Amino acid sequence: TRENKIEYRSPIICILGHVDTGKTSLLDKIRNTNVQGGEARGITQQIGASFIPIEAIKEQTKSFAEKVKMDFKLPGLLLIDTPGHESFNNLRSRGSGLCDVAVLVVDIMHGLEAQTIESINLLRMRNTPFIVALNKVDRIYEWKTCVNTNFVDAYKQQSKPAIQEFDSKVKETIAALAGQELNSELWWRNKDYKKVVSLVPTSAQTGEGIADLMLVVIQVMQKLMLEKVIYQEKLQCTLLEVKVIEGLGCTIDVILVNGRLKEGDKIVVSGFNGPIETNIRSIITPPPLTESRVKSQFIQHQEIKAAMGVKIVASGLEKAVPGTSLYVVDEDDDINAIKAEAIKEVESVLNDIETSGIGVSIQASTIGSLEAFSSFLKKIKIPVANVAVGPVAKKHVMSAAIMLEKDPKYAILLAFDVKIEDSAKQAANDMKVKILSEETIYLFEKKLKDHFDEIRQKLREETA
Ligand code: GTP
Ligand code: NA
Ligand code: MG
Repeated sequence: TRENKIEYRSPIICILGHVDTGKTSLLDKIRNTNVQGGEARGITQQIGASFIPIEAIKEQTKSFAEKVKMDFKLPGLLLIDTPGHESFNNLRSRGSGLCDVAVLVVDIMHGLEAQTIESINLLRMRNTPFIVALNKVDRIYEWKTCVNTNFVDAYKQQSKPAIQEFDSKVKETIAALAGQELNSELWWRNKDYKKVVSLVPTSAQTGEGIADLMLVVIQVMQKLMLEKVIYQEKLQCTLLEVKVIEGLGCTIDVILVNGRLKEGDKIVVSGFNGPIETNIRSIITPPPLTESRVKSQFIQHQEIKAAMGVKIVASGLEKAVPGTSLYVVDEDDDINAIKAEAIKEVESVLNDIETSGIGVSIQASTIGSLEAFSSFLKKIKIPVANVAVGPVAKKHVMSAAIMLEKDPKYAILLAFDVKIEDSAKQAANDMKVKILSEETIYLFEKKLKDHFDEIRQKLREETA
């Protein structure tokens, strides 16, 4: 059939959620279960991204997949873990912007929490389908552990009190999600993946529901997003992080969404001071199931095909801008055109961000987080005059200082997860420009409120 000829890439699945709900533990469990099966092979673990080949998933879900007559069409899953604390920043620009489907992890005992709701809004904004993992079911009162059992079977083993508490927790979650204008249902009761969010109870500790989670993720992908993951040769590659690693120097972590990368490829990436042209010295991934950063333990690849998370070693990457695209320059490509595109990518985002003559100055670590930050400020009705990506330098403070004349209450610079250079701090001090700095958007809300309350209070005192 025609479908058999279509090649699918692995979908990118982002794991989001409130701090300590068990995102990383769930990933560990998914990887560990495979180790317990005696097959450590086949799982390539990235820093932040883990590739789970379909064979490993089939093995892990074997008896269960047969029962639900699962038809696997995808080559695997590329799972991206996001850290809880920086979640807001990271998930916007580096995770949720890339992912095809998300898993939103909720602690079943806590229900929806601050970052859960933030994540929901984020996913909605980007129209990304998601599944809710109701994690830590083993904490349910009198829960009988059924190690690595699919949830439907584990549920059947439970006593009345356990079932009662579980049912009431699920009810509470469904009601709380309804409060966020979301219909949700336990996955085996969900008849409409398009309109209803599936709830998958899990335990990252004892393994109940892990098989269900993987199957539901694959099902949602195959039912709603299959077209989107048809493999394409045209390169689509996003820079996640810039990291200095002992023995390797400056490296970049990228997510290769489509196409392929080869050793020696000439590449162009956006830099804070303009496009960077360099050659791929090596493409590496850590060996399966280790977190080692020792050079000799990395696996080198002459060529790698999407979708995959890889580390690239090359010179001159220090000023690369996370969140932007990586381009490969082929022999007959016009490098200047590609460089122009790299510049355009940075500029077009900056231009898209609504600015006005009078307003605050904002700065963020990535293009994606800057976008997110600006839409957040729009929502809370704070006008923005200047935007920039990267560390705060003196010149940025100078731009913010212009507001001292125009409207002094906006003579502030909001530094979202970026370093502030000493010269900038000094300049801000000298010119009486306030710099507010936070690692998450969430924390800015209160700071901004306090700032503007203080100004209002001052005005009141002055006019009194
Ligand atoms: P951040 O990345 O910091 O946001 O946290 P996280 O969501 O990745 O959670 P993490 O995996 O670090 O787990 C937080 C704590 O919850 C750890 O102590 C885990 O051992 C525990 N935990 C995670 N999943 C489960 C679970 O299913 N059951 C129980 N009982 N504990 C769990
Ligand atoms: Na944690
Ligand atoms: Mg974690």
